Amino acid sequence: MVILVTGASGQLGQAIQFIASNYLEFKFIFASSEDLDIINQERVNYFFDTNRIDFCINAAAYTAVDKAESEIEKAESINVFGPKNLAVACKNHNAKLIHISTDFVFDGSSSKPYSETDTTNPLGIYGKTKLDGEQAVIDNMNEYFIIRTSWVYSQFGNNFMKTMLRLASERDSLSIVSDQIGSPTNAVDLAGAIMQIVVKSQDSTSSIQYGIYNFSNEGIASWYDFATEIFRINNVTINVTPIVSEAFPTPAKRPKYSLLDKSKIKNTFGIEIKTWQESLLQTI
Ligand SMILES: NC(=O)c1ccc[n+]([C@@H]2O[C@H](COP(=O)([O-])OP(=O)(O)OC[C@H]3O[C@@H](n4cnc5c(N)ncnc54)[C@H](OP(=O)(O)O)[C@@H]3O)[C@@H](O)[C@H]2O)c1
Repeated sequence: MVILVTGASGQLGQAIQFIASNYLEFKFIFASSEDLDIINQERVNYFFDTNRIDFCINAAAYTAVDKAESEIEKAESINVFGPKNLAVACKNHNAKLIHISTDFVFDGSSSKPYSETDTTNPLGIYGKTKLDGEQAVIDNMNEYFIIRTSWVYSQFGNNFMKTMLRLASERDSLSIVSDQIGSPTNAVDLAGAIMQIVVKSQDSTSSIQYGIYNFSNEGIASWYDFATEIFRINNVTINVTPIVSEAFPTPAKRPKYSLLDKSKIKNTFGIEIKTWQESLLQTI
């Protein structure tokens, strides 16, 4: 079986490459944005015409949440037309698609973890384009898995964990938002969950349940909690002050609460999920 991974140079793309050697039964094609620009419909079709692809994992995305507010067209083409091109190509070539989405499709007004069927209401352009990207997949094919995840970090690429460690090496004190609640997600754990879905989908004895699934690490955190745990594990001594979101204005509004209910992915695929603290410790 051949698995195409788009956006292969991003955090998730690199995390999948990191664990790919555990799946020697599959052939992986890792395509960076230079190898395959997902917004180029002709290139996408040509890529699928000239390579046998059974599964596509779309790890490509426009992820600059604040910049998206002023780069609407760019965010839209990568997050909406990109997944649409992949969905059409997958359908035409009988391939399955795993597409990654975000907790930012929600407005954060809930007080209990979001299930896959809860009402969406993105607060910013990034969330809106990601929601429209989900719909583009749903409208153009049947054999898809959409995985909504949150607060992704890893040893790869740019992310909150790396930013905190860099800032701590430059400053004596930091103020971190403490009124946004969610769950950090280790990209390597997300990659593992994706591969478990791929493997289970190959099992002819089980009926495949396509659709939307939530995945993050277990547990609850604010960005302040996440930062203080990063510093604790790294033995970094720094003064960290919790602040409210209003004291740290950003171009894009973010959901105040974005915990995801993971019952569906756990029950359907038997996926066991580590706590974010356990996973952070392993990453560091
Ligand atoms: N990071 C988070 O906190 C977070 C939270 C929730 C959900 N997610 C979702 O999780 C997924 C993976 O995120 P990530 O953190 O791994 O993102 P990332 O590190 O920003 O990687 C995204 C990758 O997409 C590539 N890309 C951009 N435009 C492309 C195009 N037109 N064609 C092909 N590739 C293109 C980028 O390549 P270049 O660098 O060459 O442009 C980059 O390698 C995304 O769907 C994201 O929306 C992320």
